This record gives sequence, C-alpha cells and structure tokens, in this order.
Amino acid sequence: MKRFIRYALECLICFILVKFFDSCNWFSADNQLDSVSNQMTQLYRDGEFRMSLNLDKEPYDTVRDGLAREMYTKVRILCWIMTTPKNHWRKARHIKNTWGNRCNRLIFISTETDNRLPTVKVPALEGYDTLWGKTREAFRYIYQHHFHEAEWFLKADDDSFVILENLRFYLSNFNTSDPFYFGHKFKAYIKSGYMQGGSGYVLSKEALRRFVEIGLENPVKCNDTEWPEDVQIGICMENLDCKGMDTRDSYGRDRFLPISLETHLTLGIVDDTWLWEMHPSFYPVQKGFDCCSDTAIGFHQLTPNQMYLYYYLIYRVNAYGIQDIRTEIQSKPQLPPDVNFQALPFSGPSTSDLIWTKRLKKREKMELEKYPQSEPETSSLSENLQRR
Ligand SMILES: *[C@@H]1O[C@H](CO)[C@@H](O)[C@H](O)[C@H]1NC(C)=O
Ligand SMILES: *[C@@H]1O[C@H](CO)[C@@H](O)[C@H](O)[C@H]1NC(C)=O
Repeated sequence: MKRFIRYALECLICFILVKFFDSCNWFSADNQLDSVSNQMTQLYRDGEFRMSLNLDKEPYDTVRDGLAREMYTKVRILCWIMTTPKNHWRKARHIKNTWGNRCNRLIFISTETDNRLPTVKVPALEGYDTLWGKTREAFRYIYQHHFHEAEWFLKADDDSFVILENLRFYLSNFNTSDPFYFGHKFKAYIKSGYMQGGSGYVLSKEALRRFVEIGLENPVKCNDTEWPEDVQIGICMENLDCKGMDTRDSYGRDRFLPISLETHLTLGIVDDTWLWEMHPSFYPVQKGFDCCSDTAIGFHQLTPNQMYLYYYLIYRVNAYGIQDIRTEIQSKPQLPPDVNFQALPFSGPSTSDLIWTKRLKKREKMELEKYPQSEPETSSLSENLQRR
C-alpha cells in the first residue's frame, strides 16, 4: 500500500513538472516552427508562391508583380548564405522557406555536405575564427561555377533577412562592370570603412572578379590571416580599388540594418547609452522611425520564428485601400547623401566592445536552448522538401 502511494505521488509530481515545462513553451518552440514550415511547403506545392530554386522558374505573379518580375530578370542576384553544420536545420532551412527563394540563385556555404538544403561544402575549417577562409573559398567557388548567372553577389548570414526587391531597386542605379561593394558601413580598422557582415554585403561582378583573380593570389592586397571576415574583405576591397558605397536613402535612413530591427527602431527611446556606445557606424545613426528606409534591404539578428514573421509582414499583409505609389513617382532610387565620399566618419561616443560581446553571447545561449540542432524524429519536412 505504502509503495503504491509513493508511486502515485511520484506520478503526480512528474505530471505537474511536465505541465509546467510545457506551459513555459521550452520544449514546444521547435514543433510550432515545424508546423509553420510545413505550411510554407504546402503553399509552394499549391502554387500560391511560384517559387523555385531553378533559374527558369520565377517567384513572381505575372500580373500582380509586374515590376518586381521585370527587375528579377534584369538585376539578377546570387545569394550565398554563410552557415555551419549546427545551423543547417536550426536556421538555414527557414531562409530557404522565406526570402531565399527570391534570389535568382541561392547557395548555402558550409563545411559539411547536407542534401536537405543542399549545401556546398568548401575546403575550410569550421569555427567562428575561421570565417575568413570560408568566405574566400565561397567566393572562389561562386566565381568558378556561377559567375555568369548573376550581375550581383550577396553574402548574408543564416540570421539575416533580405528584401530582394528593394535590393534590386537600389542596385539598378549602378553598373556591375564597375568595382562596387555595398552594405552597412562601419568606421573601425579601415580609413574608408568596411561593410558589417550581418545584414549582408554585395559585390558587383567587377569587384568579385578582382577579389578572386587578384586578391586571392595576393596576400599583400588581401591578407590571408584569420581576422573577422567582414573587416578582411573590407581591407581587401579598399586595396583593390573597389568603392564601398553609401547605401542610405536620400534622407540618410539606413537600408542595411546591422543590429535587430527592434533595437534600431527604439534607438534613443529605450536604452540610449549602450546603443550609441556599441554602434560604430561610419555615418550617423538616426533615431526612432528615421532609423530605417522605406526601401530597406538587409536585416540582422532574426530568430528562425522571425523569418516567418517578417515574411508575412512584407509579402502577405497589406493595409486595405492604401496603394504603393512609389513605383509611379520614382523609377530610380534617389542618391544617398554621401555619393561622392565627402563625409567624415561619424564621431559618436567610443565603441565599447565589451557590452556588445556580452549581449551577443547571451543571445546565442538563449537561441541554442530554444532551437535544437537536429531534426526531430517525427518530422518529415526535410523528406517533403527533398521529394519535391
Ligand atoms: C557599364 O560599363 C561598361 C564598361 O565600363 C560599359 O561597356 C557598359 O556600356 C555600361 N553599361 C551601362 C548600362 O551603362
Ligand atoms: C597579415 O596580417 C597579419 C596579422 O594582422 C600580419 O601579421 C601580417 O604581416 C599581414 N600580412 C601581410 C602580407 O600584410
């Protein structure tokens, strides 16, 4: 009898504990994500989004998306996503499900082959401090195999979100035969600044050609020592006379947003000091809604859930009765304030790497807990994707 009571009590405690964890959502986040992800797969299958990784199939509706469709064939963009084996399932697949399909070509660069995405395995070591080697090999691979498939070459991370339509609009101002390089400019390390890697950076055809044909062979112009990848390519671009452009709009609002959008939007409202301290932008950072352009391009620090949130807000929902008239009044983007490189680096408060690093570490830890690295046993999503 005693034993039975003890057994019953143990069961009760177990039950309460399970309910408690469940209500905290600690164990169910990834399952919820799988259901959204499955739904997207279904939508592709039903042809609601005519998206495909093939060049001969377009992601746009012939009637409704006329202009975007025209730009898609005129301003072709190859996107390559820097990812790692532990993020193939956790993060990269959600890019493929959302914005990645709007690239003319989408390539996942990793250090392991994974047919679920699929990935391209490059000969580089894995790790945060070997990203420069990985980047060099990625561009070498793209130059060798895909150079003629696009006019522009975008590098993004597996927590970036890029609005390809706005990127095409912005790039339509430029000639890809000129040596250009675009992104959000930081002022450290290099006189003319370098593009922070998180919200993505873009090379023109000529910049890519110089990088691979001249830079990779020349350690004086492009140092092959490991050092943050975005800084290294910045140094390299400067040495190869590739121009690092101002990508803000004509009101000085950023198009590439290197920290989370929430943070950009609440800059100066929520927690002023640490934001100014940790944001070493080349150009002044504007506060509140002036932070960000209405033709913004690159976003950073998204959780996998947010990929779907952004996708919905950008491509699905529309306020009824309000028309986008930008296409009627503007066929080319207006020039940014610093088109002739006259601006001096913005001198805000000094950078404090310490706070920044602490925040990043904390965030990374939280994400690791929330999104498991491997596929749950019961899910057949990757098989579904494979089969199609
Ligand atoms: C782009 O530049 C190249 C080389 O400078 C030139 O031949 C070409 O005509 C230019 N294209 C456009 C559209 O201006
Ligand atoms: C490359 O960078 C490393 C470390 O910063 C430095 O020691 C080395 O001299 C550089 N090499 C060249 C060729 O500039």
